[in-house]
Amino acid sequence: MTLGFIGTGVISEAIVTGLLKAKYPAETIYLSARSREISARLAMLSEKVRVCETNDEIVAKADVVFLAVRPQHAKDVLEPLSFRSGQVVVSLIATVSIDDLNGWTHPEANVCRAIPLPSVSELNGVTAVFPPLRVATDIFDYLGQAVAANSLREFDAYAVASAMMGFYFGVAETAAQWLSQQGARYEASQVYLAKMFQALTETAIQRPDQSFEDLRLGHTTPGGLNAQLHETFSGQGGTDALVLAFEAVAERIRNNH
Ligand SMILES: NC(=O)c1ccc[n+]([C@@H]2O[C@H](COP(=O)([O-])OP(=O)(O)OC[C@H]3O[C@@H](n4cnc5c(N)ncnc54)[C@H](OP(=O)(O)O)[C@@H]3O)[C@@H](O)[C@H]2O)c1
Repeated sequence: MTLGFIGTGVISEAIVTGLLKAKYPAETIYLSARSREISARLAMLSEKVRVCETNDEIVAKADVVFLAVRPQHAKDVLEPLSFRSGQVVVSLIATVSIDDLNGWTHPEANVCRAIPLPSVSELNGVTAVFPPLRVATDIFDYLGQAVAANSLREFDAYAVASAMMGFYFGVAETAAQWLSQQGARYEASQVYLAKMFQALTETAIQRPDQSFEDLRLGHTTPGGLNAQLHETFSGQGGTDALVLAFEAVAERIRNNH
């Protein structure tokens, strides 16, 4: 199997780094020479990585082509290229629809979309794929875990959820700042919170039989401090605000279709 990447920016670097770490059995990984610093760095990692001077060369040589340019460049970059009928095309480009991709690549290419998160470089990524082409889910399973989305609505919902990464650190920062105001050193607050969230995440991963609500109740004594914090936050509209934020991001994604 040969893989190709059109666009060698942040996310392509994360994926290729992960694939090499995971020893994914690719014969060759073709990269575009764009972002020369990144493509040169990746080429140093393995002789399997080859840097191509043109996108045409990548499309001609790769069995599976990953599209990793920014949305505003997609049409101009893809339309001149000669994709093949049946060629697997995995688009990482946010907001560009499968219909547009088929129009800009080949009407009979096997196109799917994926949302890799940067932690794929650490083999710790979770990647939504739609439609869930086996070859693509296999690749993303090497980089952590693939999640098969069975409808565009479901796929878009994972995109909304992935927008929680910034929010997560925003919540952690609010807590760290509050701790600092109580006299804790910022560095100590950061360690305290990161370790606590790490342990909670591990608990959730180890207990897939329990819902998050089960886990919340398991970490809550009625009338206790956890109960008070949750009730105060929800009572002040915190939970409703989060759902509103999901809806706002989902609407933006749908309007882009
Ligand atoms: N970053 C993420 O965490 C992430 C996650 C999931 C999906 N995505 C999606 O992946 C795509 C890329 O994101 P990114 O963060 O990796 O962006 P990025 O770092 O800006 O990378 C974009 C790449 O496209 C290249 N490019 C531009 N025009 C090109 C052309 N004509 N031919 C070949 N390559 C060309 C750029 O090369 P130059 O530097 O030489 O201009 C650069 O290597 C976006 O559509 C984004 O929505 C990103």
